[in-house]
Amino acid sequence: MSAQQKVQEHEKVKVKTVSPTQPLPPNSERKAILTERLIIRPVSEDDVDGVHAIHRQPEVMKYTLRGRIDDNKEMTLASMGRFMPPNDLHTYSNVICLASTGEIIGTGGISTADRTFGWPEVGYLFNKEAWGQGYATEFLKALVSFWWTLPRSEIELGVVAESVDGPGEAPEMLSAIIDASNIGSQRVLQKTGFQEFKRWFEPDIREGHSGDVLLVGFVLSSAGQEGYRAVGSGGPVLEPTDQAPV
Ligand SMILES: CC(C)(COP(=O)(O)OP(=O)(O)OC[C@H]1O[C@@H](n2cnc3c(N)ncnc32)[C@H](O)[C@@H]1OP(=O)(O)O)[C@@H](O)C(=O)NCCC(=O)NCCS
Repeated sequence: MSAQQKVQEHEKVKVKTVSPTQPLPPNSERKAILTERLIIRPVSEDDVDGVHAIHRQPEVMKYTLRGRIDDNKEMTLASMGRFMPPNDLHTYSNVICLASTGEIIGTGGISTADRTFGWPEVGYLFNKEAWGQGYATEFLKALVSFWWTLPRSEIELGVVAESVDGPGEAPEMLSAIIDASNIGSQRVLQKTGFQEFKRWFEPDIREGHSGDVLLVGFVLSSAGQEGYRAVGSGGPVLEPTDQAPV
């Protein structure tokens, strides 16, 4: 997600909903989420080389907070720190590895700290060699399915007005903010069930950018969603559980 999303204040309404109980499980207690081709596991300092290699690719970093590559591993470690203890208690972030080789091909997760729309927010990036093979969609489907299985508490939340019918009770949602020119990422969200609900211009404050940028807001409602679990002996796959939607 990019820095420009912080510029505009969105009108909020108060809703009663549910959300994963805070603090979230720490990285040390999280198990990997397994899909057909991916191992999605909590990020640790040992992953810095793999994450740094991705953070050196301008095509990938264009859509991040600073909009440019990391100069050195210290910068990469600092950005990873946003998802490591003690910040892991409010984020559910991961490195995304190929199950076949263990290679780190991406990072991504859900933050309950960055609440531009009030709802927890998803973010992800993949190295460019991995693009176009369905990995981001496979990752995001698994992540959100797992998210719905976390223990929940009732909560009162100020959320962006356009995402709900009005104040009162509302189904829990996840959100995303995307640069309108980032068609691939919008496709990933759509394939995962997210729906666009808002477009707006903001000054583009990313390094090396000027003028305005058109941003797109997406939400995914928990209504009708099912939790998933990793199963299978020959290779882990995700199958629906009979768990009721949250
Ligand atoms: C966006 C990103 C995550 C997509 O990863 P990916 O693994 O290639 O995604 P998938 O293969 O699962 O799906 C991409 C979809 O977008 C489509 N797509 C990609 N670029 C496109 C373009 N320029 N125009 C139209 N469709 C495009 C693909 O065809 C595919 O859709 P399809 O399955 O219907 O054919 C990856 O490109 C990336 O890391 N980009 C840089 C960081 C970023 O933008 N992160 C998201 C913002 S937070």
